[in-house]
Amino acid sequence: MKKVSHMIEVNHISKDFVAPKKYPGLRGAVKGLFSAEKVIKTAVDDISFSIDTGEIVGYIGSNGAGKSTTIKMMTGILVPTKGTCTVAGINPSRSRKENAQNIGVVFGQRTQLWWDLPLSESFTILKEIYNVSDTAYAEQMEFLNRVLALQDFFDRPVRTLSLGQRMRADLGAALLHNPKVLYLDEPTIGLDLVVKDNIRKAIKEINEKYQTTVILTTHDIGDIEELCSRIMIIDEGRKIYDGSLCELKDTYGTKRKVSMEVKQPEKIKGLCLHELLGVQETECSMALNLENSTLSVTFDKHKLQVPQLLSAVMAVAEVKDIQIQETELAEIVKEIYNHGVGGAA
Ligand SMILES: Nc1ncnc2c1ncn2[C@@H]1O[C@H](COP(=O)(O)OP(=O)(O)O)[C@@H](O)[C@H]1O
Ligand SMILES: [Mg+2]
Repeated sequence: MKKVSHMIEVNHISKDFVAPKKYPGLRGAVKGLFSAEKVIKTAVDDISFSIDTGEIVGYIGSNGAGKSTTIKMMTGILVPTKGTCTVAGINPSRSRKENAQNIGVVFGQRTQLWWDLPLSESFTILKEIYNVSDTAYAEQMEFLNRVLALQDFFDRPVRTLSLGQRMRADLGAALLHNPKVLYLDEPTIGLDLVVKDNIRKAIKEINEKYQTTVILTTHDIGDIEELCSRIMIIDEGRKIYDGSLCELKDTYGTKRKVSMEVKQPEKIKGLCLHELLGVQETECSMALNLENSTLSVTFDKHKLQVPQLLSAVMAVAEVKDIQIQETELAEIVKEIYNHGVGGAA
């Protein structure tokens, strides 16, 4: 086999979907049925990246951005319209069987398990499909039972499981043959905090124990903060960010919020802070809450320093308490979704 430099290499892949043209209204729907007119939707548009063994990468973007389509190309379910993709040295769509041995997949929106069979039987079938030896099976089940507690519902039909149990079962099933790469497409969707936490812990432990490479799409920023050192952001099929979480926070988390409890809030009322400090209104905005005597100021940390702000406020009123907050990751991401990378800076 040729040398594998990266676990995953994606080179300029695109995916176009051809769909019948839609017309508005009921009459339009009927017209659409008979019309030969087609529209091309580019779901993934010239994306490249490489991922090393053992990385956990968060793949994020708003709904319809192209995340699942990218994952489907990496798993071999879809063939790219353009570009190439290699996973563990294999072209996934050309060598689907060989590729299947190397990967595990969980789609949070739908189970891969046999709905009416007891979970244990799904596992027995998967053991056969993936050619897992008895020894390897016993060892892996011991590990999966420990991290996902599958034994609690192993004999129950999948359709009777709660969402959280089903997700643990799906994750376990994806890991039975100990794949090199694990794709998780919204694995924590709809789960309560306790189950989310269990799933995150399990992913972390699997990654540490086996150096499993993990690609995770999620809308849950908590998943990202807990698990991913690297994130890629995709927007309308294009990759708009690829880097560390720290870098993202440093570069785009330029806003800071300071809350001050003041003794005489009425003295603050007419204050025009941005003028006092010589900055634009957008670079420093204030909100005064008279009920709890708190002044909150949101400002650009490259334009203003906390001491400057404090002395301006303290010149008019006494400050009893102060709290400084960095921008939350969720806000940075929301801003990037809304305005692109340029807008968030
Ligand atoms: N099988 C398909 N046929 C036509 N369009 C599709 C198909 N699958 C996805 N799309 C379209 O491609 C875009 C990206 O979808 P998807 O990859 O599922 O986004 P995400 O997972 O980021 O929400 C969307 O506009 C979606 O409607
Ligand atoms: Mg999706």
